[in-house]
Amino acid sequence: MIDRLIAGSPASEFAEWYGTPLIVYDLDEVDLNVDEFAGAFIERGITVGYAAKAFFCTALAEVLAATPLWLDVCSLGELRTAERGGFPAGRIYFHGCGKTDDELQAIADGRVAFGVVDNAEELARLGEIAGRSRPSQGGPVPIVLRINTGIEAHTHEYIRTAGDRTKFGVALADVPDLLARIARDPGLRLIGLHAHIGSQIAEVAPYLESLGLLIDQAHAARALGLPVELLIAGGGMGVEETPGDPRPLDYFALSEGMEDAVRGTPFRLAIEPGRAVIARAGTSLYRVMAVKSQGGRRFAIVDGGMADNPRPALYGAVHAFEVMTSAAAAPPEDAVLCGRSCENDVLGSVAIPADLRAGDLVALRTTGAYTYSMASNYNRFGKPAVVFARDGSHRLVIRRETADDTLRNDIG
Ligand code: LLP
Repeated sequence: MIDRLIAGSPASEFAEWYGTPLIVYDLDEVDLNVDEFAGAFIERGITVGYAAKAFFCTALAEVLAATPLWLDVCSLGELRTAERGGFPAGRIYFHGCGKTDDELQAIADGRVAFGVVDNAEELARLGEIAGRSRPSQGGPVPIVLRINTGIEAHTHEYIRTAGDRTKFGVALADVPDLLARIARDPGLRLIGLHAHIGSQIAEVAPYLESLGLLIDQAHAARALGLPVELLIAGGGMGVEETPGDPRPLDYFALSEGMEDAVRGTPFRLAIEPGRAVIARAGTSLYRVMAVKSQGGRRFAIVDGGMADNPRPALYGAVHAFEVMTSAAAAPPEDAVLCGRSCENDVLGSVAIPADLRAGDLVALRTTGAYTYSMASNYNRFGKPAVVFARDGSHRLVIRRETADDTLRNDIG
């Protein structure tokens, strides 16, 4: 009988204490990933902001508040979470390509260090809101302008965020007009420029190309008297599918290249990874509900699926699979790992022992990013619980949603 460990505790213990499906975060792995960014970037004076969209909750805000990381939020929900977790406002900034008036108000009120403006309409609305709010707050509202540098990193089409066919940021051709508008608005102060070119990036070159274009625009902005000094080169640092495989991106080559690019300029640098900080720390634990054969294929159905991890269905994402507890002894056979939702929600093509049984525990690894944060209540399944673990101890940080939770907003 095997009973594999997650962060020093047996998988069976997690299942017994908290139930399944469950996402377990190994905090040592979070520390390790933060330390890697600190060593390669922060020690060179490059700010690292964590992109909260990858995964966020109050307990993570508390953990990250104690690190040197900044925080990129893109909704009032993420901001409220950061505030509740005691994350200092001075290290938070506000992203998003369609901010509500309430979100712009939060920026104007100084609940974050600065806002990243995505488009001309937003600039106008923020200018108006800042004009109304700032007399009581004092000083113009600090902003960063998001530019679509047109550099395409080689990633899955659905997660590409730069290039002619994506919606994000201001097209290079429109930047002069936007800079002129900002220069005319006494309520706004442009402190930086931003570009994010995609996700799961494994090459240094596209970052540096994009940064080069930001530097050109930053010089143009300063020529207009705008106090641009911060250049944010985005996130998107790739993560390997299988734990233990080499890191896809050379952080030191990237940080050196970035440093070289701004040497002799007045600019300072930042990056904003989400996945590469948190993905490796997460393991999704499931209980096998049935194993069957049909049409010449074997299927293992688990008690989670596309509701708690939509990534395989959405992007064809592959997560390393492991049998965690089982008395099975037969050799592995090909099988399709499926969820329990009412459609073909394949979680992966896996090899499982021929005698794996209902009740056994299995896991998908590297599920710390964009799994819980993208989970839904499809089929009115409750979202899974989330646990933080380290070195043989663990604690619940997000409770499991019950069936009643799924109808808490219903009226009638
Ligand atoms: N900054 C901005 C402006 C972003 O839009 C994103 C991610 C990040 C930073 C962080 O990117 P990361 O380092 O985590 O790759 N749901 C997809 C990923 C979507 C990424 C969206 N933006 C997935 O599951 O692969």
